[in-house]
Amino acid sequence: MKLVKSRFYRTIAGNALRREQIQSMKQHIIQQLRNALDTLIVEAKLPQDIQTNIQLDTTKDKVHGDFATNLAMVLAKSAQANPRQLAQMIIEAMPPSNKIAKAEIAGPGFINFFVANDALYAQLEQAFVDKKLNVSLPKPETIVVDYSSPNLAKEMHVGHLRSSIIGDAVVRSLEFLGHHVIRQNHVGDWGTQFGMLLAYMEELSESTQQQKNLELKDLEAFYREAKTRFDTSAEFATRSRELVVSLQSQDAYCLKLWQQFKAISLQHCQEVYQALQVQLTMNDVKGESFYHDLLPKIVAALDEKQLLVESDGAKCVFLDEFTNKEGQPLPVIIEKAGGGYLYATSDLAALHYRSMQLQADRILYFVDMRQSLHFQQVFAVAKRAQLIQPHTQPEHMGFGTMNDASGKPFKTRTGGTVKLIDLIQEAQNRAMVVIQTKNPQQTTAEITEIAHVVGIASIKYADLSKNRTSDYIFNFDHMISFDGNTAPYLLYAYTRIQSLLDKAGDDDYSNCSFTLTHKHELALGQHLTQFNDTIHKISNKGMPHLLCAYIYELATLFSRFYEACPVLNESCIQQRHSRLKLLNLTARTLKISFDILGLETVKRM
Ligand code: ARG
Repeated sequence: MKLVKSRFYRTIAGNALRREQIQSMKQHIIQQLRNALDTLIVEAKLPQDIQTNIQLDTTKDKVHGDFATNLAMVLAKSAQANPRQLAQMIIEAMPPSNKIAKAEIAGPGFINFFVANDALYAQLEQAFVDKKLNVSLPKPETIVVDYSSPNLAKEMHVGHLRSSIIGDAVVRSLEFLGHHVIRQNHVGDWGTQFGMLLAYMEELSESTQQQKNLELKDLEAFYREAKTRFDTSAEFATRSRELVVSLQSQDAYCLKLWQQFKAISLQHCQEVYQALQVQLTMNDVKGESFYHDLLPKIVAALDEKQLLVESDGAKCVFLDEFTNKEGQPLPVIIEKAGGGYLYATSDLAALHYRSMQLQADRILYFVDMRQSLHFQQVFAVAKRAQLIQPHTQPEHMGFGTMNDASGKPFKTRTGGTVKLIDLIQEAQNRAMVVIQTKNPQQTTAEITEIAHVVGIASIKYADLSKNRTSDYIFNFDHMISFDGNTAPYLLYAYTRIQSLLDKAGDDDYSNCSFTLTHKHELALGQHLTQFNDTIHKISNKGMPHLLCAYIYELATLFSRFYEACPVLNESCIQQRHSRLKLLNLTARTLKISFDILGLETVKRM
């Protein structure tokens, strides 16, 4: 009898597995443990009010079972029992399950679970017959994802890489799970730097058309020259300031120049997205300027909620939870003294729009961690002023900096910012050398094609495989290596499996039932069943590195399996077919993961 619905129900495994339809093995065991705890509570062997997350980990060494929990150790104190005794009580209180072959106590009080082979086969079979690998689909939500979002004044540089590709991978994982995703490229297209650009454009437009186009092709140079003019000519600087004011008050002439500039600048972004296989299009652009008309309304709404305070002539919101080191309240500046809105003001408007118009359940921001205070503040203000609906959950998915070997932000040799387009080119050149050395017999055309895919995949994977919250060291040699947790290693593993499957020809293994005997074969099978949990984690936490770690492990388990178990040369048909089927599932799991990470594959390497 399961009477007690205690509080740990809701906390288990966080939100990660909300609204599932199909239970994975992990969920099944967690459920069993929950039931056991309920029973122990009813039997008064555990206090009513225990609160705990049931932590269930996959084991590294399958000798210790497939899953393990430290639950008995965590609860021992409240149960006033020793952990091993409590572990025994938990095991005994678990309802019978034919999916668990045995549960064993280990060390100071761990419980190790061995999954029954039949249960494993059933899961593999379900994954095999489903094109989404039997992943459980949550209730679809509307999720707005703000990513890439460069400032349009300059060409895209390495600082824009992380947001663009991490955001894109998370978007793909959310779509894979059936969510309604709305991409938003919140480009900086309305700031003060535009006055400078407009003034420079104005100067150039007086020269010939041809010259003008030439200048604009290299945005970086264009920006630099405008800046030099700004710094050296007082007249130019004055004109720049005038033009910002005119632009923001929608002067037709300024708007026209500005649109021209924006179009060229965005086109350049699109080129980078295309090269990086980032799915953003022109339709996803909703820059700061888009919110311009909404800003007075936001200010009025804050005023109405009596949140606005005047400080040195500026309109600010002070919230108690934000103070500086001295304990003084920190303002969120909404309107500057003498008029003019700020970055935070557009973000409040964007939050409002995304919640009210786009009906977002979640809004994810893939933006540098250095902006974390900004986001905490605008989220808090938006909630306080009810600018967003109660069900809308804004989340800042911050990321660390990409550094060079000395731990400093990545720069060119001369100390300039590295343009993304140059970085991509260099990766391809380097991949070309590596591929050429590995396959001297291939034609140049083949090598170029492979190097193109491998170069891009290497840059992306190196970034995606790091925990996004930490800084990381950008290292070309490492990312293009065939050893370790790299794109070439994984893509290569994939080509090996594919070519094996090709060699099997029309050997029809799809109807054979799984029979896994060797320990490396079982380990591979077991790992395949964990795809579901992995994919849910990425979309909930916005952390693609978890999927990278998963496929790296998958590829490693494949190699171990392949060294130990014959496939094409296996004489027992049942065994051979079961192995081919396992490899087929491995290849498809890899391919789907690559798609989610935004990595292309190759036939040969
Ligand atoms: N353009 C900003 C920058 O380059 C990032 C914008 C991020 N998105 C946002 N809604 N604030 O720093």
